[in-house]
Amino acid sequence: MAFTYRKQHLFAEDVDCEALAQQYGTPCYVYSRKAMESALEEYHKALKGCEHLVCYAVKANSNIAVLDILARCGAGFDIVSVGELERVIAAGGDPGKVVFSGVVKRPDEMRRALQVGIRCFNVESEAELEVLQAVAAQLQVQAPVSVRVNPDVDAGTHPYISTGLRENKFGVATDAAMALLRRAKTLSNIDVTGLDCHIGSQLIDMSPLLDALQQLLLMVDTLEAEGIHIRHLDLGGGIGVRYRDEQPPAVADYIAAVREALGDRDLALVFEPGRSIVANAGVLLTRVHYLKETDAHSFALVDAAMNDFIRPALYQAWVDIQPTGPSDAEPRLWNVVGPVCETGDFLGKDRELAIAPDTLLAIHGAGAYGFVMSSNYNTRPRAAEVMIDGDSAHLIRERETIEDLLRGEHRLPQ
Ligand code: LLP
Repeated sequence: MAFTYRKQHLFAEDVDCEALAQQYGTPCYVYSRKAMESALEEYHKALKGCEHLVCYAVKANSNIAVLDILARCGAGFDIVSVGELERVIAAGGDPGKVVFSGVVKRPDEMRRALQVGIRCFNVESEAELEVLQAVAAQLQVQAPVSVRVNPDVDAGTHPYISTGLRENKFGVATDAAMALLRRAKTLSNIDVTGLDCHIGSQLIDMSPLLDALQQLLLMVDTLEAEGIHIRHLDLGGGIGVRYRDEQPPAVADYIAAVREALGDRDLALVFEPGRSIVANAGVLLTRVHYLKETDAHSFALVDAAMNDFIRPALYQAWVDIQPTGPSDAEPRLWNVVGPVCETGDFLGKDRELAIAPDTLLAIHGAGAYGFVMSSNYNTRPRAAEVMIDGDSAHLIRERETIEDLLRGEHRLPQ
């Protein structure tokens, strides 16, 4: 476990969180290198003996130190913008292990991705395929392509993070995908290599994933009979994590079920996990500044806000909040809220906590979709990020300054 209490004080690996807060200030994201490495290792272990690539979904946590650590352990990357591609390159990642997802890939993004030689474009529409053909033809290269299938399955997760339903903007319905693949096969600068799908995030039940897989396998077999050989299946990300009491499938069980379903088909497997690699490898440290009692609620006013960590406000996500050290205060129910001027600005409601002004709190499960979704709303500089490696702490992103925030803005001429 990356975050554990030693004599009632929370440690990140071998470093005391209170000491980190003193050194780097709050709010501050703290990550565990070991936790990220071992989460990736679970995928690699389960895939042993089968041709595979684990493409970490950069969007979950895109700090270049995170990408560097995962690249060193053999990860590829799932990107959704040229910005993410540049991060992978800056982190020393191998562009040849990059898959490019997303419904709007601009021609300039395609060009850069082709120039650095990414592994695959996960194409999401016919219009995109035609543009990719044109860009690849200009560069006189072959674009490796997978078609993202929308299998119309209910992933059973929050509607904002469900992506595999017919009504969603993602992917191409199975029949249309077959037509698209046949068309792709005729294009001079397109090399059809795979099929992919990603049906949603924070999935607790693996049956929709396996239902989607069955549809892909049917397509693979039909295409094979037509002489179109599919070389890899990319099943996306989506495996959930435990924030509270959820019981997500073990990665090993999920992958064993996938391998079993493949039978003796000659297919490489690609996965695009984000959350399951980094969510529980990170906490957000925040300091209680004031306590405020009203007729309706007791508010713990802390220095992190929805601009730092938006998941509770945006998805009503529940994340564990705990003091990092002991307190003499009586435990009672608190609404943990930040400084942003919105009633939606909360981190947790009705939490039983023993706290006083100055208590340092750890918000758990903050390694995925935390810092990356932060903003400067209310002109709040974004938090620092620190990577723990055993007993060493590395500052991997400096806290922004007000100067950083004003850079690029201009007053009108006098
Ligand atoms: N592949 C594709 C094409 C994706 O769209 C996503 C996530 C992933 C892989 C990684 O999925 P994961 O393994 O992390 O579930 N901000 C939301 C989550 C949005 C996920 C978007 N797509 C949240 O905080 O819950």
